[in-house]
Amino acid sequence: MQTIDKYTFSGKKVIVRVDFNVPLNKQTFEVTDDTRIRGALPTIKKILNDGGSLILMSHLGRPNGQVQDKFSLRHIVPAVENNIGRKIKFAADCMGDDTKQLASSLKPGEILLLENLRFYEEEEGKPYHLAEGASDDDKKAAKAKVKESQKNFVKQLASYANCYVNDAFGTAHRAHASTALIAAYFPDNSMFGFLIESELKAMDKVLKSAEKPFTAIMGGAKVSDKILIIENLLDRVDNLIIGGGMTYTFIKAQGGKIGKSLCEEDKLDLALNILQMAKEKGVNVFIPVDAVNADAFDANANTGQSKTNETPDGWMGLDIGPETIEIFKGVIEASKTILWNGPMGVFEMDKFAKGTTTIAQSIANASQKGAFSLIGGGDSVAAINKNKLADKVSYVSTGGGAMLEYMEGKELPGIKAIRG
Ligand code: 3PG
Ligand code: MG
Repeated sequence: MQTIDKYTFSGKKVIVRVDFNVPLNKQTFEVTDDTRIRGALPTIKKILNDGGSLILMSHLGRPNGQVQDKFSLRHIVPAVENNIGRKIKFAADCMGDDTKQLASSLKPGEILLLENLRFYEEEEGKPYHLAEGASDDDKKAAKAKVKESQKNFVKQLASYANCYVNDAFGTAHRAHASTALIAAYFPDNSMFGFLIESELKAMDKVLKSAEKPFTAIMGGAKVSDKILIIENLLDRVDNLIIGGGMTYTFIKAQGGKIGKSLCEEDKLDLALNILQMAKEKGVNVFIPVDAVNADAFDANANTGQSKTNETPDGWMGLDIGPETIEIFKGVIEASKTILWNGPMGVFEMDKFAKGTTTIAQSIANASQKGAFSLIGGGDSVAAINKNKLADKVSYVSTGGGAMLEYMEGKELPGIKAIRG
């Protein structure tokens, strides 16, 4: 397998799959968080410094095979230029004659950004242009057709370059043309970029060589979203901290009163199963004992506090309470490895942000004392950024779904295509 640090890009045309699926302001279309663009800079700089030319390709949002201005990568050109510190060229599509011309005339040190790959249904290989009420046979035929035209799509993209770099970690869990299929055109010249390499290193450190005690902190609304990762982690962790809305599925399963808190009624047995498995494996599970409650899901709701298993009727828990915060802090700050995915409460509302903020701060404290901490998932990363702690934790992942699937023990198509 080729590695980017040993590869010389001098005189080469390099097609790089990046994940520039970044959030945009809905009115002005300005990039509101450029973390993913910054994440690709080490790879971009290495290729430029070597004297290569760059063709950058990405998706933005989910346009489902339809050209739509709000999903145009044209909007991110200024943010890319600011980060790289030089002008880039923009191709208005991925396949047209002008684009072919732009790609073939690219000189060393020049950068071309292609338009959104998902303006083509071939990127995902899904038939999006089906007539309403299409029969199963029509669907099958349309799918076969798109899979066939996908071959030309991949071939065309590959024709622009001498080598392929995948640095789109956030999209590594998708088996798409640009993430999984194109590598086959460069059997000896495909490699990961620095971002994917560092993401893999951080995740493998946690999964394969975690220093103990190892604490996983799982938050968010639903147990069903986190079940696979929890199952995979139970063989590895010493402590499992549960927080967020899914708390109440566990509390109700154990017979507690949860008022009108969020609950997955069909996952009560699953919650009990997790607790039983944890017990068998000797994992300490920490579930919130008290909560900040609200009388409505609203930033201006009335608030109160109670034990999580004695939530008054008509109230719902929206953050962990003070006693819980102290317990969680103690566990986190005594840990040597910490994995965090999912908030403790509704941290976008100030009244319910304290639990998440304090946990983020505790993780930073533990990291400053030498623990290795890995944070992934949109909300946890947003909480770290909101509290300006990104430099005080060990690694902040650029992948939500991709990180979750890797930590579940799944093989990611974008990784397999290169690593084999
Ligand atoms: C993401 O932000 O989750 C990645 O860019 C992948 O996008 P997707 O979930 O639309 O495939
Ligand atoms: Mg996603």
